[in-house]
Amino acid sequence: MSSISTVSSAAQGGAVTLSVVVPTYREAENLALLIPKISAVLRAAAVAHEIIIVDDNSQDGTPEAVDGLRKDGHAVRLITRLEERGLSSAVVRGFQEARGEYLLCMDADLSHPPEALPQMLETVRTPGTDFVIGSRYVSGGTTEEGWGLFRWLNSRVATLLARPFTSAKDPMAGYFALPRAVFARARELSPIGYKIGLELMVKCGCKQVREIPIHFSDRKFGQSKLTFKEQVRYLNHLKRLADYKYGTLSRLVQFCGVGATGMAVDFSFYALLLSILPWPWLSRALAIWVAMTWNFFLNRGFTFWDGRAIGALRQYRRFVASCVAGNLASWAIAMGLNYVPLFVGHRFQAAFVGVVVGTGINFLGSLLWVFRREGHAAT
Ligand code: GDD
Ligand code: MN
Repeated sequence: MSSISTVSSAAQGGAVTLSVVVPTYREAENLALLIPKISAVLRAAAVAHEIIIVDDNSQDGTPEAVDGLRKDGHAVRLITRLEERGLSSAVVRGFQEARGEYLLCMDADLSHPPEALPQMLETVRTPGTDFVIGSRYVSGGTTEEGWGLFRWLNSRVATLLARPFTSAKDPMAGYFALPRAVFARARELSPIGYKIGLELMVKCGCKQVREIPIHFSDRKFGQSKLTFKEQVRYLNHLKRLADYKYGTLSRLVQFCGVGATGMAVDFSFYALLLSILPWPWLSRALAIWVAMTWNFFLNRGFTFWDGRAIGALRQYRRFVASCVAGNLASWAIAMGLNYVPLFVGHRFQAAFVGVVVGTGINFLGSLLWVFRREGHAAT
């Protein structure tokens, strides 16, 4: 991750057991309350620790606040990111800079109880544990009263959608810990959006996930940054997790989904053109072309979002070529099968086989050639 940032003086020497990473955006007011609490709890439990604030240049006096806290003797340092923004990448950055044997992430707004820190640490230290969640949804865990139906439903639906990737009760949580060695296993992190805990559980291959109950309080100062845009990002995040976990199968499903929307576009356009143009052959050709272009953009932006080894125009030409190849094969198979005894008199069955093979060719063309990924071998 290339980034411009400033890093305040490193923590004092000596082994660190627990690194507490706190991502912040406009939380200066909360830090003055949170940091002393974290220190007090960890000192009482005799845990060698460091606190790392990863701030995205909030311009709200965060550096001054952290300076003051350091002068008061708290083992805290600040990383200010000047160009990047986003909760997940901030947490990853903090973990990369951390020196502790165990890494922990918590929110700055006092939603996550510092009192639970010793138990989080103790649990993550249990041999074989990959990941620990400070959980709202295991027995004993609670959220502030007065969560409206919408917020509750929202949280539950988001959790349900994560089911294919984890059986944790609260995989959305922003309060979690893991051993440094587990973090080091992270492969292909694409930290978008808010759900960095879920991302790490999947990409670090966490098998043993434990949850300890916490009470999740509402923030007192400042505002939540969890907007509608973040929710859309979450859907995109889930899609990427599916690509990671199910590989080519996930792409195939999306490719076929896109193809289905393309067919709808094709037929609607065809109907429209037939009603305005006197030449059916032209209407058919234009509708096919529009649908193909539609499919191209969806596959480029969605199915093969990470396939950007060549420019868009070259990709478009290749996509067209691959469609032509697929459709020619589809046509040839449909025609040829008419001479195979099993298919004689069954034109639609023959055409269907052609469509399946043609789609397969299109798909392989897209996967291996049109939208191939950087560093993936292909011509
Ligand atoms: N560096 C950085 N950059 N920090 C950020 C950014 C950002 O772009 N956006 C948010 N943060 C910080 C906030 O300052 C806060 O410390 C923490 O991330 C959580 O942000 P909130 O805005 O308070 O999130 P929330 O309360 O709506 O969501 C919390 O609960 C969710 C589950 O209900 C978070 O813990 C989420 O991670 C969690 O999924
Ligand atoms: Mn919050």
